[in-house]
Amino acid sequence: MPRLAYVNGRYLPHADARVHVEDRGYQFADGVYEVVAIAEGRLADFEGHMVRLGRSLKELRIDWPVARPVLEMIIRELVRRNGVSTGLVYLQITRGVAPRDFKFPNPKVRPGLVLTTRKLTRFAAPAQVESGVGVITIPDIRWLRRDIKSVSLLPQVLGKQQAVEAGCYEAWMVEDDGMITEGCSSNAWIVNADGTLITRHADTHILNGVTRLSLLRLAESFGATTEVRPFTVAEAYQAREAFLSSASTFALPITRIDGKPVGDGKPGALTLRLRAAYLEALAGQPVAGGAP
Ligand code: PDD
Repeated sequence: MPRLAYVNGRYLPHADARVHVEDRGYQFADGVYEVVAIAEGRLADFEGHMVRLGRSLKELRIDWPVARPVLEMIIRELVRRNGVSTGLVYLQITRGVAPRDFKFPNPKVRPGLVLTTRKLTRFAAPAQVESGVGVITIPDIRWLRRDIKSVSLLPQVLGKQQAVEAGCYEAWMVEDDGMITEGCSSNAWIVNADGTLITRHADTHILNGVTRLSLLRLAESFGATTEVRPFTVAEAYQAREAFLSSASTFALPITRIDGKPVGDGKPGALTLRLRAAYLEALAGQPVAGGAP
């Protein structure tokens, strides 16, 4: 059976999935998205992603294209039809199709809904988990509503490309005050010399990662000392451990920052414990395609 995409009410072969040229997502990046991991048939942190989606829509005054329970059914149906047991769901909602004009269409048009899935064999290559990945630091040149998961991602596209060209996996973005905000598509974490786990507090300067929230809860559940505050590049260089988190990587160890080794240059113990605990917690979540 061919891989299917869901586009505005229809399940279509992926190769034939199209949106209109005047979709506002295409012309203005006027839309939001979510990425949800599917691990052994389970939608990871699904409730958290749906709550954040609702918040992003509300902030941009875009209506749900269908009621939330219907959207959840469509997601599970696409995952089922595509037979994905390990992979990702991509969900995008835009303000809809209208003649190009900056202000909102009046009268309102139907929001655009697109869903795709992608099968993966695994979420990170074993070498990335065993040896860790590298990050570079770059200036944060983004707008100041990073709490909205908008499809406007050009600074992140450029940042990731810069990271790859430097032989790294991710770029950590830094504001004028020297504080790291987050990665181009992930949240940033360090463990300092005292063993304290530090990640930036969630305000409009970062995306409040759903994985970030789960990892914080897990860290607290096993008694780790946590500080939710910004940290500097200098603190990151001196950290004992560092890692990044996202729906597609969970907690991924970082062993080089701007070419300097983090701690002893190996993935940290707390990082690996958090990764294992997250994967274990996933195993207890409902199965996609089954009862929500
Ligand atoms: N990115 N910060 C940014 C800027 C992100 O784009 C992401 C996720 C995160 C982590 O959020 P979460 O844990 O909810 O995935 C933080 C997704 C995976 C992407 O764009 O592909």
